[in-house]
Amino acid sequence: MKGIILAGGKATRLRPLTLVTSKQLLPVYNQPMIYYPLQTLLKAGIKEILIIIAPDYAGHFLHLLGSGKEFGAKFTYEIQEQPKGLADAFIIGKDFIDDDDVAMILGDNIFSDDLSEEINTFQSGGRVFAIKVPDPERYGVVKFDQGNKAELIVEKPKEKIGDHAVTGLYVYDKRVCGFAKELRPSERGEIEITDINNKYLELGELDVRKVPGKWFDAGTFDSLLEASNFIAEREKGKTKR
Ligand code: DAU
Repeated sequence: MKGIILAGGKATRLRPLTLVTSKQLLPVYNQPMIYYPLQTLLKAGIKEILIIIAPDYAGHFLHLLGSGKEFGAKFTYEIQEQPKGLADAFIIGKDFIDDDDVAMILGDNIFSDDLSEEINTFQSGGRVFAIKVPDPERYGVVKFDQGNKAELIVEKPKEKIGDHAVTGLYVYDKRVCGFAKELRPSERGEIEITDINNKYLELGELDVRKVPGKWFDAGTFDSLLEASNFIAEREKGKTKR
C-alpha cells in the first residue's frame, strides 16, 4: 500500500502563525505537526509516501523530511498550486498510486490510536474512520441507519444528522483516482472527499469504522493547543513510567 500526506492549503484560520510558515510545520508539543500523521503511516509499514504541499515553504518540508531515508521510507513530493479540495490528492497522486491501494492522511490530523491493523487489513473498496465529536457541523458526518450501518455522509451538515465525524485518514483501492476525476466542485468550490466516500457507499463498498481514541484536526488555535497539551501529557507519562 502507498501513502499520501496532504499538507497543502493556506491555513488562514491560524494567521498570524501561518504568515511565514506552513501549518503542518508548526510545533505540536515537541514535534512538527506533520510528524504525527507521518508516524501513523510509518507504523502501519507504509514505506512509499507522497507528500503534497503548497508552493509556499515547499523547501522547508524538503529540509525537514528529506528523502525519507532517515525514516526508513521513500518520500516523493508534489506541489498543489491551489487548494482545490481533498479529493485533488488522488488526481495529483494518480501516477504515484499506480496499481496500488492508498492510505491518505491529512497533514494536520493527529490520532492517539495505532491504526496499523485497520490499515493493514484493508482489502478493497474504501475504509474511513469515524469518531464521536461535540461539534459535528465542522466535519464530514456519518448518518447511521437503525441497524448502525452507514447510510450517507454529509459535509458540514447544517442540521444535525449524527455526531460521528469522518476523520482525515482514508484508505481506498486504486479506483479512487477515477472517481476523483469525475467530481464536480461543491458549493464551496472544492472537490470533496465526502463525494468519494458517498460513491463507495453507493456501491456498498465503504467500510466506516468507529475508532475509540482521541483525534485532533489541529487547524484552529484551540485544537492546536489541545493537541499539544495531549501530546505533552502522553510524553510526560512515558518518562514517569
Ligand atoms: O479533518 C477532517 C475533515 O477534513 C473531514 O471531516 C471533512 O469531511 C473534510 O472535508 C475535511 O474538512 P475541511 O474541508 O474543513 O478541511 P480543511 O479545509 O481544513 O483541510 C484539511 C487539511 O487539508 C488542511 O490541513 C489543509 C489541507 N488541504 C486542504 C485542501 C482543501 C490541502 O492540502 N489541499 C486542499 O486542497
